[in-house]
Amino acid sequence: MSTESTTQRLQDWTQHYTEVNGRPPRMFFSTFGCQMSFNDAELIAGLLDRVGFVKHDSPEESDLVILNTCSVRESAENRVLGHLGRLKFIKEQHPDLIIALGGCMVQRPEIVAKVQKSYRHIDILFGTHQIDHFPELLWQALQHKGKVISIEETNAIPTEGLPKLRSHSYSAMVSITYGCNNFCTYCIVPYVRGRERSRKPDDILAEIRALVADGVQEVTLLGQNVNSYGKDAGSSMDFADLLEQVDLIPGIRRIRFMSSHPRDVNPKLIRVFQEAKHVCPQFHLPMQSGSSRILKAMNRGYSKERYLEIAQQIKAAVPHVSFTTDIIVGFPGETDEDFNDTLDVVQKVRFDSAYTFIYSQRSGTPAAEMENQIPYAIKQARIQKLMDVQAEISLQINLEYEGQDLEVLVEGPSKQDDSMYTGRTGGNKLVHFPATVSEIGKIIWVHIVKASSWHLEGIPKKN
Ligand code: SAH
Ligand code: SF4
Ligand code: F3S
Repeated sequence: MSTESTTQRLQDWTQHYTEVNGRPPRMFFSTFGCQMSFNDAELIAGLLDRVGFVKHDSPEESDLVILNTCSVRESAENRVLGHLGRLKFIKEQHPDLIIALGGCMVQRPEIVAKVQKSYRHIDILFGTHQIDHFPELLWQALQHKGKVISIEETNAIPTEGLPKLRSHSYSAMVSITYGCNNFCTYCIVPYVRGRERSRKPDDILAEIRALVADGVQEVTLLGQNVNSYGKDAGSSMDFADLLEQVDLIPGIRRIRFMSSHPRDVNPKLIRVFQEAKHVCPQFHLPMQSGSSRILKAMNRGYSKERYLEIAQQIKAAVPHVSFTTDIIVGFPGETDEDFNDTLDVVQKVRFDSAYTFIYSQRSGTPAAEMENQIPYAIKQARIQKLMDVQAEISLQINLEYEGQDLEVLVEGPSKQDDSMYTGRTGGNKLVHFPATVSEIGKIIWVHIVKASSWHLEGIPKKN
């Protein structure tokens, strides 16, 4: 069935539903994992918004529940399975509810088998290559009430020309590449997201121009490895060229990008990062380990010394850059000495913050088969030590901001305290400050009065 006729049929269906029920059909999203996953959720929401569904914040009161899942660590998968258990209960109360399970977990055959066997209340299983076909799958589910499964790998680029229902009016994610070719030995992503493919520069630039015209202040360029952009046949530009072009778009205020891979950082990229006017002083550069031996076993393509060199070059180019990283502890065979190398780099580079993970065995990846898997207690002790060291460094760096005035993009009320709002600095630091709803989406000056390891507190400056 063509996409157009599906759109029309779904529109007729939602119209009829609205007449009968006195309200439009509701969709509830539960999204796990990285920004790619959130980006997929915005795309699906956009497609369904176009045919008449409205977003709702309770699964019990919705007609359609969509889970976008993550496979990167076992803990992520377990959280999703827990969720599925709860949805079973809701479906027993509301048999017409349609439950759709999508994202990275669905690309894993063992998960699909498990869902088929033990989670029979799922109506639609859709993979990471099927985002643009979601309306057709939904239509099939509405028609037959049977299970609909679509998990083929197409390696197509799903976004071109599709509507998006963005979560924020003031900031937006823009995918520039899909998939990953790096095959780090611990990582499931290349298996569940397919080969790396770059979008065309004109499509990306047109999308960003439209976002800026729509009032978006901050754009984040997304990819598993943004700085390998253009290495496939998809684009004649490399990432540095693309960043330069995005920077020239009139009216753009803030540009971010993530994640970068150390193997693909070069002097040209550092120069553009330094010179571009609207690129935020933030660089996220996953290190994974500080031990050259472990980095080799991880297939990362750089050594401890090379990582230190790149970090030093980036910090020299942009002195107040907020430099952040990802680190895995307990990779198979990691000795105390290897772990000490990681601590050594952390102390030498002085990251603003680090996302730290306990190595999780992912079946199908080479590292899962390696000998010398590290006992959980050792992994736990190492991550605790690493987090303690990093928290102290983050605090020392953040204390330097006390007394300074920083530009902050106001995001919304703080989750803990209604009278306080949160926002982000150019360096992506989280700031709490008193504000009002009318300031959401604006960039304001905030005088920082207090710092902790994880956030800053301040008072807005009166103009
Ligand atoms: N493409 C990005 C991020 C991928 S996933 C990059 O390469 O930088 C985000 C982070 O999850 C990774 O950087 C890594 O630190 C962590 N990660 C990936 N696989 C993991 C595993 N099997 N166990 C623990 N952490 C993992
Ligand atoms: Fe995974 Fe490595 Fe690709 Fe990142 S670069 S997604 S860690 S394989
Ligand atoms: Fe998870 Fe898939 Fe992202 S495995 S980290 S949601 S690419």
